[in-house]
Amino acid sequence: MMRVGLLGCGNIGHLIASHAERFSVAALYDQDPDRARELADATGGTAYDSFEAFVAADVDLIVEAASVRAVRAHGEAVLGAGKDLVVMSVGALSDAAFLERLRTAAIAHRRRVYIPSGAVMGLDNLKVGRIGGIDRVVLRTTKHPDSLGLPVTGRTLVFQGRADDCVQAFPKNINVSVAIALAAGQEVQVELWADPAVDRNVHEIVAEGAFGDAYIRVRNVPSPDNPATSYLAALSILILLRDLADPIRVGT
Ligand SMILES: NC(=O)c1ccc[n+]([C@@H]2O[C@H](COP(=O)([O-])OP(=O)(O)OC[C@H]3O[C@@H](n4cnc5c(N)ncnc54)[C@H](O)[C@@H]3O)[C@@H](O)[C@H]2O)c1
Repeated sequence: MMRVGLLGCGNIGHLIASHAERFSVAALYDQDPDRARELADATGGTAYDSFEAFVAADVDLIVEAASVRAVRAHGEAVLGAGKDLVVMSVGALSDAAFLERLRTAAIAHRRRVYIPSGAVMGLDNLKVGRIGGIDRVVLRTTKHPDSLGLPVTGRTLVFQGRADDCVQAFPKNINVSVAIALAAGQEVQVELWADPAVDRNVHEIVAEGAFGDAYIRVRNVPSPDNPATSYLAALSILILLRDLADPIRVGT
């Protein structure tokens, strides 16, 4: 059975730990040691107070479920310790120089970095953009104004432009746009809408290229055990961990 180390024991960490099937959570670390200890009690894994001891633990891969800062601080060390890395705080990879350093470390230590599809579908064949060319990728996200902290009364375009610039103003929207950009191998045009009429987070992806064109719309409900996370994003993490142990791979 695959042995997983959890870097970050908050909402996502709990979600992974409470659905640990076909893998076990064997090692846990959090900058707040009480959180790691509490979750270790529930999983039967070992909580570590120091990152150095955690990264040396007997695990096959480490799931980062902490923060952009944690990925930047610890990502290379995880790979250097001979462990694969699952990155949840995908926004950390918007820094091209850091991404390159992570790639170099993964190659040097023959390890892999996995990025879950999160709150959207379609990353699989968006990857053809790296070979066949995609002329245009647009991510249109619509959220209730409350979740953006905006006092808006009608449907309003609150941002239009490059993903990097959107991140400055609305950092919580970074994971989806960076994952799409990495899959397609190119810049994504982002539109962010506030709409009091929606009760779900809606992501629409429009892609046009040599292959033809595609339109994908995902309307996300909150995760039943963690309303802050889309249920699809929660499922996507769990299926990634299951798939790693499965010899048959489906999808590009
Ligand atoms: N890709 C996706 O689909 C997806 C979905 C949901 C959340 N996320 C991302 O996953 C991350 C975790 O989300 P969450 O909801 O569990 O957050 P959370 O705040 O509930 O938990 C984060 C935990 O990590 C710990 N932590 C933060 N920085 C750390 C560091 N440098 N070293 C050690 N521990 C550290 C915190 O103490 C906390 O316990 C966030 O960055 C979030 O954006 C990604």
